[in-house]
Amino acid sequence: MRPWNESGMLHGGDYNPEQWKHVPGIWDEDLRLMNLAHINTLSVGIFSWVSLEPEEGKFEFEWLDDILDRLSRNGQRVNLATPSGAKPAWMSARYPEIRRVQPNGLRDPHQGRHNHCLTSPVYREKVSIINTRLAERYANHPALLMWHVSNEYGGECHCALCMKAFQEWLQRRYSSLDALNKAWWAAFWSHTYTDWSQIDFIDHSVHGLVLDWKRFVTDQTTDFIRNEIAPLRHHTPDVPVTINMMGTYDGLNCWKIAPYLDLVSWDSYPLWHRPGPNADRDTGCETSFVHDIYRSMKNGDPFLLMESTPSMQNWAPVCKQKRPGMHQLSSLLAVAHGSDGVLYFQYRKSRGSAEKFHGAVVDHVGHEHNRVFREVADLGEKLERLGVVAGSRSPAEVAILFDWENRWAIEGAAGPCNAHKDYVQTCVAHYRPFWKRGITVDVIDSTCDFSGYKLLIAPMLYMIRPGVAERMTAFVEAGGTFVTTYLSGVADENDLCFLTGFPGPLRPLLGIWSEEMDALYDEDVQTVIPLDDNDLGLDHVYDASHICEIIHAESARVLADYGADYYAGEPAVTVNDFGQGQAYYVASRNDDRFIDDLAAGLIRRIGIQPNLEGDLPEGVTVQRRTNGKEDFLFVLNFVNEERTVSLGSTTFHNLLTDKTVTDELTLHAYGSTVLRRDSSKVSEAA
Ligand code: GLA
Ligand code: ZN
Repeated sequence: MRPWNESGMLHGGDYNPEQWKHVPGIWDEDLRLMNLAHINTLSVGIFSWVSLEPEEGKFEFEWLDDILDRLSRNGQRVNLATPSGAKPAWMSARYPEIRRVQPNGLRDPHQGRHNHCLTSPVYREKVSIINTRLAERYANHPALLMWHVSNEYGGECHCALCMKAFQEWLQRRYSSLDALNKAWWAAFWSHTYTDWSQIDFIDHSVHGLVLDWKRFVTDQTTDFIRNEIAPLRHHTPDVPVTINMMGTYDGLNCWKIAPYLDLVSWDSYPLWHRPGPNADRDTGCETSFVHDIYRSMKNGDPFLLMESTPSMQNWAPVCKQKRPGMHQLSSLLAVAHGSDGVLYFQYRKSRGSAEKFHGAVVDHVGHEHNRVFREVADLGEKLERLGVVAGSRSPAEVAILFDWENRWAIEGAAGPCNAHKDYVQTCVAHYRPFWKRGITVDVIDSTCDFSGYKLLIAPMLYMIRPGVAERMTAFVEAGGTFVTTYLSGVADENDLCFLTGFPGPLRPLLGIWSEEMDALYDEDVQTVIPLDDNDLGLDHVYDASHICEIIHAESARVLADYGADYYAGEPAVTVNDFGQGQAYYVASRNDDRFIDDLAAGLIRRIGIQPNLEGDLPEGVTVQRRTNGKEDFLFVLNFVNEERTVSLGSTTFHNLLTDKTVTDELTLHAYGSTVLRRDSSKVSEAA
């Protein structure tokens, strides 16, 4: 496979020259501005189907030949897209079955985008034909850097073809209806199926069905993607393939798609500058959590920020401009966490239609004399200096388990606290203490190998898939530290509750039995009171909310008790010494102060190293990438005030200013920079 990042950081974004074909001279102007903005990569053809195939079977590639040639001569490379994200109107009209059907049974008219049936053989064939044409034609084009397959896969179709495919998928999964009825506990409400054709994906009362439908949608999407990729692999076996994913979008388990891709990429649109004192710090942290998912998805290989906005989104309730400095900060944040590039939606702002106000490198005014263009160009110049960082990695001692299937199960379940399920927020809450201390974290799925980590935190691990408890047990036995919380070890992969006492297969490892799950109204009061001299140094009375479990310490030791209600004095936090390691259980949803103190205690006990020695000022994080010889520390300030970071005794080279830095570094409001140090010196010192 040809490496996609060997020339350094990618900079550029979505480019739709076909929208401007009729405007004389504009492509030349585009090319001039690209060079001014230090843009080296354009994603071309994403929604170009009707421009490539204006009538069925009549192809027009000349405009694409022309622009690819020009880009190549001008020094740019191209992420060439397959156009399946938006189908031509003639196709929707001639083949109605390719249009998606809504859960109410109504077929979509031709409208919008990202709205095709995942099963339709006709659509798959049409996609295969156009992809084959593209792959044949551009296989050896010097501009071709990678394939950008379709755009933001998502959604589901409820047509008869998809229903049938779901029933067949179930037949393959369960072999017999008897096995399916058992797995779905179908005798409940008299749902027992006596023929595969009776199964309807719309039934939300059967939790096993809901889960399997989501799994099916992921598998069917993956199958569709494989169909798209087949001609690309055939004609261009060396050209990397990716799809642009949508962060923590709930509808697809991206971990199952990633193995078919050569790199993963995602589209990141955080809403910066929301009201509130810590809003940008929190947004920075939440965005980092997602970057870390995508870095972890390919075992730490660099990923790609495929889309971001140079200025503002146009779809938010309030579409705020990035304040000066935020563009560099938010872009370097992605690179800090493992992206080998910063790409935008979009290069030139469209003149009309749904996204005419969305941020772009080139605004409607069409020239380079504006703030956004200047900030983009400045970043582009800096990304050139960061070429040495490309390919480097971010080894982590800590992992947070964030599992899509677990999330589906929690969201599908009725109870115990439907008003506040908050799985994603809870995972981010456990991530935040590490981020703010500048400690690298992988964000992984249950199927990942745990053995390389020192600390594994699996909040709300409701669903325990086969083999996971065994791997967690082996991890702790070998010396790992494991933390989990309330609502863990409740159900198996079919959402059938464990009958051996919660937390099910984790009970021996955690040394506790959870007898009851209590739920709290927002007005209710519960507290967690640490015991004197507890292992973690917990030393406050913490607030608990939403979900509190009443647990018994079996082999575990108690670290804190509840303070109120009928379970006052019962254990609220425990630790079980197990093999060479330890397993912690947090029985209630506790406040941020608890989560921070818990992390601080664990970091101290385990001896986890921050990326930069010493305490960081509030609002600053430090993320590290390394090539084994050199460390690259990204120092990022998410507050709108100056911050000074102490650098200890190490001498750094500032890659952005080319200056030597010692003692301390001052960052202006929303300031960001990248420091290089010799890795061997750090390990010698440690
Ligand atoms: C998504 C899409 C783009 C564009 C942006 C706007 O990421 O992939 O085509 O619509 O959103 O934010
Ligand atoms: Zn369908």
